Formats: sequence, C-alpha cells, structure tokens
Amino acid sequence: MARGEVHESEAAPRVSSAGQGSLVRLRPIQVDARPSNARLGTCTREFQLFTLFCHHRALVHPAPVKSRKAQAHLRATGEHPLIAEGAVMEQSAVISLELPQNVIALVPMRNIVLFPHVLTAVTVGRARSIAAVEHALQAKGPLGIVLQKDAGVDEPGVEALFNMGTVVSIVRHITSADGLRHAVCQGLERFCIEELVEGYPFLAARVRRIGEPVEVSTEAEALAVQLRERTIEILSLLPGVPAELAHALQATRAPSHLADIAASLLDTEVAEKQMLLETVSTEERLRKVLQILSRRIEVLRLSQEIGERTKEHLEDRERKFLLREQLKTIQKELGETEGDDQEIAELDEAIAKAGMPQEVETQARKELQRLKRMPSASSEYSMLHTYLEWMTELPWRLPDDPPIDLNAARKILEADHFGLERVKQRILEFLAVQKLKPQGRAPILCFVGPPGVGKTSLGQSIARALQRPFVRVSLGGVHDEAEMRGHRRTYIGAMPGTIVQSLRKAGARNCVMMLDEVDKMSASLHGDPSAALLEVLDPEQNATFRDNYLGAPFDLSRVVFIATANVIDNVPPPVRDRMEIIDLPGYTREEKLQIGLRYLVARQREANGLNEEQYEITVEALNSIIANYTREAGVRQFEREIGRVMRHAAMRIADGIADGEQPKVRVEAKDLDAILGPAKFEHEIGLRASLPGVATGLAWTPVGGDILFIEVTRVSGRGQLILTGQLGGVMKESAQAALTLVKASAGDLRIPAAMFDGIDVHVHVPAGAIPKDGPSAGVAMFVALASLFTDRPVHHDVAMTGEISLRGLVLPVGGIKEKVLAAQRAGLRVVLLPARNEKDLREVPEATRSTLQFVFLETVDDAIQASLGQRGAGRPESEFKLV
Ligand SMILES: Nc1ncnc2c1ncn2[C@@H]1O[C@H](COP(=O)(O)OP(=O)(O)OP(=O)(O)O)[C@@H](O)[C@H]1O
Ligand SMILES: [Mg+2]
Repeated sequence: MARGEVHESEAAPRVSSAGQGSLVRLRPIQVDARPSNARLGTCTREFQLFTLFCHHRALVHPAPVKSRKAQAHLRATGEHPLIAEGAVMEQSAVISLELPQNVIALVPMRNIVLFPHVLTAVTVGRARSIAAVEHALQAKGPLGIVLQKDAGVDEPGVEALFNMGTVVSIVRHITSADGLRHAVCQGLERFCIEELVEGYPFLAARVRRIGEPVEVSTEAEALAVQLRERTIEILSLLPGVPAELAHALQATRAPSHLADIAASLLDTEVAEKQMLLETVSTEERLRKVLQILSRRIEVLRLSQEIGERTKEHLEDRERKFLLREQLKTIQKELGETEGDDQEIAELDEAIAKAGMPQEVETQARKELQRLKRMPSASSEYSMLHTYLEWMTELPWRLPDDPPIDLNAARKILEADHFGLERVKQRILEFLAVQKLKPQGRAPILCFVGPPGVGKTSLGQSIARALQRPFVRVSLGGVHDEAEMRGHRRTYIGAMPGTIVQSLRKAGARNCVMMLDEVDKMSASLHGDPSAALLEVLDPEQNATFRDNYLGAPFDLSRVVFIATANVIDNVPPPVRDRMEIIDLPGYTREEKLQIGLRYLVARQREANGLNEEQYEITVEALNSIIANYTREAGVRQFEREIGRVMRHAAMRIADGIADGEQPKVRVEAKDLDAILGPAKFEHEIGLRASLPGVATGLAWTPVGGDILFIEVTRVSGRGQLILTGQLGGVMKESAQAALTLVKASAGDLRIPAAMFDGIDVHVHVPAGAIPKDGPSAGVAMFVALASLFTDRPVHHDVAMTGEISLRGLVLPVGGIKEKVLAAQRAGLRVVLLPARNEKDLREVPEATRSTLQFVFLETVDDAIQASLGQRGAGRPESEFKLV
C-alpha cells in the first residue's frame, strides 16, 4: 500500500536553503474539519505525523506560532529544530509573478504519482521546484505535479517528463531544517502538457486540464461497488491500518474519485501508477485498479497464510521444546537423564567402532540423530534403540582368518569322531583348499544321513579345526521367509531373521554356520524360506544379503556354510544344487562299540559325575546294549542307554559314599536286564521267523536301514489277495506279482495246484501304523508265500531284499549299505541280495561284511534255495553258498 508517499519525493539533491522557514505549530484536524488543539512534537515527529494524518485522511494544520511567549518556550525546550537552528521562515519575494492563462508552475517528481482527489504529502528539494512551490503559495494558485520518466535526471526538460500529471493545490507546507519543503497537496484534476513555457525561475508549461466526467455509467457504478469492497478487504488484510481509512472509502461516492483514491493507495510501481493516471476513462481505470487490487489480495492472502502456518509450526516447536525441557527437568529429578545421554553416547561410540561399510554407517548415524530427538519414554525410541543395538553388535568387521594347520585339523577330527574316514578325508581336502585360497569360494558341504550319526558334531569339529566360531541355525520347521530374512522395522516386535541373529551370536563374519535340517524347511502361505536360503548359499548373491529388519546389505561371502539333512530328497532341488552332498549312512555294530568305548562312555561318565576308578562297563555289556536295547543307524539311543546305566551306578556309588566305603561299580552284560529292563529287540526275530509264511525283508528308511517282516497266511475264501499294513501302491503290486509267480512255479516248488483253490491269501506287514512302499520287498514276499505253500519255514537268521519280475528274475534295489547295516544290527547272519547289487557291497565296512554271509540272487529260485528249510520244520543252520 501506498504508505510512504512522503519519503524522498524530491529529497535529493539537497538544496541548502536554511533560513527560509516559518515557525509553525501543527494542529491535527480531521477530515470533517473538526479542529483539535493537540500540540504535536518536533519537526521530524511532525513530519511523521503528516504522513500519519494523510493516511488517516486527516489534515495537519500548521499554524504560525505568533506569541513571543510560546516562541520563547519552544526555543527554551528545543522542541522545534527549526527554532533550534535559529531559522526563521520568511516569504520569498522572488516569485510574485503572474502566469498567462493555462500556464502553471510544474514540480517534476522523481518517484511519486499524485492522483486527483487525494491528499498527498510531498517533499521538494530542487531549487526550481522550490521556486514553483513558492510561486504557487504566493499566487494561491495551482501547481502541476508530473512524474519524470527517469528519476536520475536533475534538470528535466519537457521530453524527460510524462505528458500527464495532476493539478494540485497546496494545503499546508513547512520547511525543514535542511531546507526541504514539505507540502501537503490536494489533488484536483488531470492535465496534459501542451508545451513548456520558458522564462521563469521554475518549470512552467501550458497545459490542458482534463475534467471529471459528468455522467456516471451504470457499469462504472457497478465496478465502483466492487472496488470499494475489494479495497476495504485489502485494508483488513494489512496490519495497523486505521479504521478511518475504511470509513473514508465508504464515504466516497463518485466512481472516478474512488478509482483515484484506490490507485493512490496501491503499493505498485510508479510506472503502473502513471499508467492508471493516464487512463482517463473511468470504467477502464476502475477495471485496471480492480485487477491490480485482486492480484495484491491474492498475494497478501497467501503470504498471510504462510505466515500463519509458520507461526503455528513455530508455536508447535516451541511447545515441544518447552515440554522436552520440562521432561528433562523431571528426568533429572528422577536421576534418569544421564542414562539417556549415556545411552546415546554409547551408541555413537559403538557405531564408530562397529566397522560398518560407509553407507551403512551413514544410515546408522542418521537413525541415531533421529533417536536423539525422540523422547526416551516413547515406544518408538525403544524400537529405534533396539535397532541401533542390533546394527552395532553385528560383526561387520572381517577378522583375520587364523592360519589353517592341516595336521592339527586332522588331530581334531580324529579326536572328535571315530571312523568316518571318507568324510574326514573330504573335510581335510576342504580345509586344504581354504588354506591355499582363503578368498576363494568354499563349496557348501551338506552332510546327509540318519539321526545321531554325527552330522552336527562334525560341523563343530570343522569350526574347531578352522579356529573360527561355530553357530547353528536350525531350519527345521521354518516355513516363513520372514523367519530367514526378518520383518521390516515397521512391524511391531520386528526382529532380524535367523541368519542375522546367528551372525550376532557367532560374533564373526567368517564363522562356521551350520544350516541344520535343511530338509525340514517347508513353504507356506507366508512365502518360501528356501528362496532366502538360496540367496544365502549363492556366492553370487550372498555378499549383499539383505535382511528386512536391518534394511542394509550384509556380506555373508566369508561365512563357511555347512548344511545337514536326514533325507536329501526333501531338500528343494535348487538348494541341493548349490551343495556338495556327503553321505553318512550310519554305523556298524563294531563302529558303535568303538564310539561307545572311546567317546560315549567317557562323556556320560563325566556328565554323571563319575570317574574311571569308580565305574567300569564291560565290552560285552556295551555290545549287549547295542544289540538288544537299540536299533538305530546313529548312536544317540546308545548314548542314552549308556547314560541310564551310569545314572544307576551313580546312585549306588552315592549310597555307598554315604555308608563310608569307596565302592567300584562294574557293569556286565548280565546286569543290564536289571538296570535297563528286558532286551527290547532280539526276541522278535527268532519268534517270528520260525513259522512257515514269515520272511525277513530289509528296508531303507530316512533314518537308516531297517528290517521288515512279511507275514502271509491263507484262509478259506474265493481266491482273493488281502493286503494290510499300510502298503503303498508299488508294494501291493509286488505282492500280487509274488503270488502270481508262486502259482506259476507251483510245479517246481512241488505245490499241489489244488492248494490255491477255495482260499484267500492274506499278506500283512507289521508295524502297521507306518506307511511302507517300494518294490524291494518282492523277494521277501515271494519267499514268504513259497514258505507258506510249501510249509517250509524261512531260516530265522536270513534277511533279504530285491525286486522280482514275473519271469522270476531278481532285480537290483537301492540302499544296500543301510540295509546290510540294519541286518547286522538286527542280529541276522545271512543276507540275500540281488546279484547286480554285489558291487554296492564295497561301501559296506569290512568289519560288517566279515560278520555276515551274502547270497547273490539271479532268480527267485536262488532265494528259495538259500532261505527255506525242510518241509515241516526249521533247520538249525542254513546250507547255501557262502561269500
Ligand atoms: N563317529 C562318531 N564318533 C564319536 N561320536 C559320535 C560319532 N558320531 C556321532 N557321535 C556322537 O553322537 C551324538 C549325536 O550326533 P549329532 O548330534 O551330530 O547327530 P546328527 O547327525 O546331527 O543327528 P540329527 O540328524 O538328529 O541332527 C553326538 O554326541 C556325537 O558326538
Ligand atoms: Mg544334528
């Protein structure tokens, strides 16, 4: 808004004309011309008040101080600078000139446009302008105010002036101490310069006055209504605008006046104002002013809004700051502040020490900054704090790999495990490669075998041999990708995935990580964990493994991964593809005995707080435990049974110590019955196998080999084959084939054909709750059926495996090693195998082979020969070809 119209209108260059002034006393009078006698302050102050009163649409009425007393008072108080400087204003004699018709004195303005109907204060400083003002005052005539085109020109000619200006009458004026004339001018009407008239001490020009329109159009009226509203609106948006201004606007009726007043109030460029002045048409002027005004309103509104928002924001911040300060005070009172500061400082230090990659550290520091600004009582604080703890506690730094000593490693492997020569050899090879090429990609070994054969403990030995921390990640039952990879931090209770958790536990980025039970993972609705496992195991990807919780990549490429599984078939093929499978099929009796003697007894003795002097268990007793109390591929059950025996002994010894003696307990095979109860396994074989119609088969199961009884019987019926014992499709078919084959070879077996009439044949495989399938029970079924129909019992110490064809051929099967070990475990002595499986016997340890007799079958006839005894009774010894 036009508030500063008084400023510097003509201030420069200054003309020193001190001495020309009049001692005035200023009296404010209102527009309505009600005089007030309030005396106003000093000149400067008066000058300000000029402005103020202009805005108030009020007039300042300077009145000469006439009384000597008053003059003396003013001089004494020094209130009036004019007086203080001893200046006395005199009327100049120079300018009592008559001007021709239509010629007026001109005052060029550097940066101000005056409008008709508007009261404006101007300051005049140039000599010619002062002369013009003086002349106007003298002649009590009008003065022309016109804008210079270029504010920098000091002595403007006609070409340097705009053509249109405003005729004014000087209402009041004063001269300040520096000689400038301050005049309050009342705008009267527009004029056009026709020509400059020379010969005067001031600029003078012949002008054409442009009067006000007499008629007022409806459009002008309408526009005026609009303009009035908008002007009042804009005044309301400005701070500190006196109410009188709005009243004055309300009171202005003529649209042309209103347009001029509004234009003068506008806070725009002088050029724009001049343009408005030159717009003679009322309607057009109204429109233009309206337009400018509307734009200003928008700007003002916006700036006000911004201002308010900023204020709100600031207020909110102030409030929070205040609350935080209060909180700090409270916490100080409670003695809690130190903790927080200390916590933050600790985290800060931990981040510095963690050895994170640059980008991760930047991220952590950003989060720490966030944490600092949070109130420590908030839940978000504790979440972020936990996150930063995780970040700082992870082993980002890569420790130096301790040198690998192959000899020491060999010793460690020997010390921890008995047997397993092939596996140990492979592990040593693995270590040798690691030693030669530490940065190379280590193959991922996967130990596959039944429970309790030492898969997990081998992994621990590898870690010992490498001198690196060992950590076990149990993947059994993991069915959610998030368990592997963690949840995003936005989840409540989010945690890193099991891989990252294990790394923190291990505390080293080059640890040995055992991925236990990879075959027990399963996909679910929540995603497939094996997808994450793939990323972990793939050397192409695992250098930037992403855990959702951390939200930062972690380098897993230096971790030595070892996987374990019971059944390799259950491992997803892509995962299997990335690993090197190492089989651990299970132990023979002799191996178990050695493991027992060398490791398990000592371990259990220690676990139960006994020493060698106090306790002894004989080899026979151990053998008996293996044979009669366990049937397993591994040694877990064996170890447990040893443990039971030990606990029993420990009790006796503890009792003895109480009685004051030092007893030594020696456990022999015969004591086992009393300690462990009756033998669990042996009897079954003898009992079942001594009747015609029962044969012992060998089966392969995920937990090692096992023996399997095939029972057949006949009942009167209509020639049906009844199958029970949860047999799978393949097994049912082999039963059918076996029966057909028996019927077909009835002649050779000397079975009367009539024997098959009027009967149903029932085949049952006990342990009926366990599903069974596969073709390898074919031979056993055939032998069981032949035994039934020929009434010749199967030798009780013979076990067999093999698939049959309808032509009577015996076909090869899998799992020979496990099956042979199972036969040995079960106390069988003769094993019938398909001839084409003979080569597989090489995998069976020599110790086991030497305790068993093998018969290799080309056809089912060989099986009959080797397994069936005399008609009507079992023979004590088998008589067949021994290998
Ligand atoms: N050859 C061995 N020599 C000495 N101890 C052995 C041997 N094999 C297994 N053990 C011992 O048997 C116990 C069981 O072994 P471990 O836990 O490694 O079995 P696992 O193969 O991982 O079985 P699971 O598949 O059930 O996890 C361990 O205490 C281990 O030390
Ligand atoms: Mg294990």
